[in-house]
Amino acid sequence: MWFLGMDVGTSGTRAVLIDEQGRVVSSASEEHAPFRTPHPGWAEQDPEDWWRAALIAIRAAIAAAPEPKQQIYGVGLTGQMHGAVLLDKDGIVLRPSLIWCDTRTQPQCDWLTAEIGYDRLIELTCNPALPNFTLTKLLWVKEHEPEIFARTAHILCPKDYVRFRLTGAYAIDVQEASGTLLLDVTNRRWSSEVASAAGIPESWLPELFESPEVCANISPDAAELTGITAGIPVVAGAGDQGAGAVGMGILQPGSVSATIGTSGVVFAATASPIKDPKGRLHTFCHAVPGRWHVMGVTQSAGLSFRWLKETFFSGQDYDKLTAGAAAVAPGSDGLEWAPYLLGERTPHLDPEVRAAFTGISTTHNASHFVRSVLEGVAYSLQDTFSLFAQLGIPVSGIRLGGGGARGPLWRQIQAGVYGHAVEVLTAEEGGAFGAALMAGVGAGAWSDLDAACAQAITVAERIAPDPAWQAAYAAGYNHWRKLYPALATLR
Ligand code: XUL
Repeated sequence: MWFLGMDVGTSGTRAVLIDEQGRVVSSASEEHAPFRTPHPGWAEQDPEDWWRAALIAIRAAIAAAPEPKQQIYGVGLTGQMHGAVLLDKDGIVLRPSLIWCDTRTQPQCDWLTAEIGYDRLIELTCNPALPNFTLTKLLWVKEHEPEIFARTAHILCPKDYVRFRLTGAYAIDVQEASGTLLLDVTNRRWSSEVASAAGIPESWLPELFESPEVCANISPDAAELTGITAGIPVVAGAGDQGAGAVGMGILQPGSVSATIGTSGVVFAATASPIKDPKGRLHTFCHAVPGRWHVMGVTQSAGLSFRWLKETFFSGQDYDKLTAGAAAVAPGSDGLEWAPYLLGERTPHLDPEVRAAFTGISTTHNASHFVRSVLEGVAYSLQDTFSLFAQLGIPVSGIRLGGGGARGPLWRQIQAGVYGHAVEVLTAEEGGAFGAALMAGVGAGAWSDLDAACAQAITVAERIAPDPAWQAAYAAGYNHWRKLYPALATLR
C-alpha cells in the first residue's frame, strides 16, 4: 500500500511516495517556470504550468519507485499558500494566478480594513488584511479587471487547482482556507460577513474539508495521464506550512518548529485559536481537526547567510564558513546582524526597514561576520518566541527544520538563543511527506495524524543549550532588540 503526497511549491512541484509504515519509497520533482514580475511587487504564475509539473513529478516518482510496484491507495496535496486562481463556470482559468509573494494589494488591504474595521476583521478571521492573503488579490481583480471578475464562478488556491485537474472537484482544506482571509478560523467555516463585505459571492468558494478528510477521487482522465487508478481517494491536504508541520510531527499543543529555509518560520500547534490583537502572528486552523496553529515569519533567514556568502565569500562552502565561525565566542564580540534584507514580517510588519551590521570594530574578522549572521537570524526567530510568551502560547518542545537544522553550529546557537533544548529529525522530507501522511490517514492506514506521525517520525538528536551560551545569548538578545527601533528611524 503506497500513498502519494504532492507539493505544488513556488519553484517546482514535488511528488513523494510513502509506504504504510510511513517510509519514503521514492520522490521526484519538476521545476516551474519562474514567476513573472510585470511590475515591481507583482508575482504571477500560470496554473497550467503547475499541472504540467504535477504530471511529470507524479509519473517520475512512480517510475523511480522500486519493483514490485504497489498500488497507490490515497493522494494528498500541499503547496504554496494564498495564491488566487480564478476560474469561469466551465473551470477555465481566467488569468494568471496572483501568488503569495505578490504585494500589489496594499490599497485593497486598506479598503477592506476600513470597510470591516481592524478589530472586527481580526475577530472574524483571526488575522489582519495583508497583501499575501487571497481575498486582497480578488479585490485587486475586481477593481482593475472588472470584466474578468464578472466572468468568475470559482476561486481556488494553487494546490487546489491541481486537485481540480486530478478529480474535477472544487475543494479546499481549513488550514489553506485560513490564509484566504475569507475563513471564520475560530469556527472552521467560511465567513459570510467577510465575503459579503468584500462582494465575493459565496457560491465561488470551494467546498471546505478538514485536512485528512477524503474530498474527491481521481478521475478517469487523470488516471490515464498519471498512472494512478481511477477512483482512488484524494484528501483535502493543507498549505505548505500546515503540511510541513505534519511532516515534522508538530501536532500537539506545545510542540513548536523553528525552520530556517530562505525565510524562517516559528510554528506552534495550539488547542484553541490564539489571536494576536496586533496581527503580528498568523492564526490558522491546524491540519489536525480541532486544533489551530500560530506562526511568525522572519523574511530573510537562510537568505541572510546565502547573501553573505555570495556577496563576500563566493567560492567558499558553507561548512568552511561555519567552521571558522565556531571558533568565535558567542555574541561575536559585539558584532550584530539585523536581518532585514527584505524588510520584516514578524513582529514588526515593516516591509521598508533594511538590514545592518552594527558594532563593527578593528578586532572583527570574516568569521565574526559569519557568526553574527547566524546569531542575528536566531535572534529574529526568538522575536516570535517572545510574542508567544506574551500571548501565553506554550512551548514544550522545539524541533528544528530546513538548512538551519543541518550544521551543528547553527543548531547549538538556536538552542542557546531560544534557551530551550532543540530536536532534529532523522529525515526531514517537507510538506509533500506531510501530505502523504494525510493521504494515508484518509485511506485508513492510520487512525489519525497523531498515529501516523508517531509511527513515521523519529528524533535523531536532542541538543540541550550550553548554559554559558544561553547566558551570553540572553544578554545578547536584550541588546539586539534595540536595533530595530534604531533602524526604523532611518527612512
Ligand atoms: C505562508 C507563506 C509561505 C507560502 C509560500 O504564509 O506565505 O509559506 O505558502 O511557500
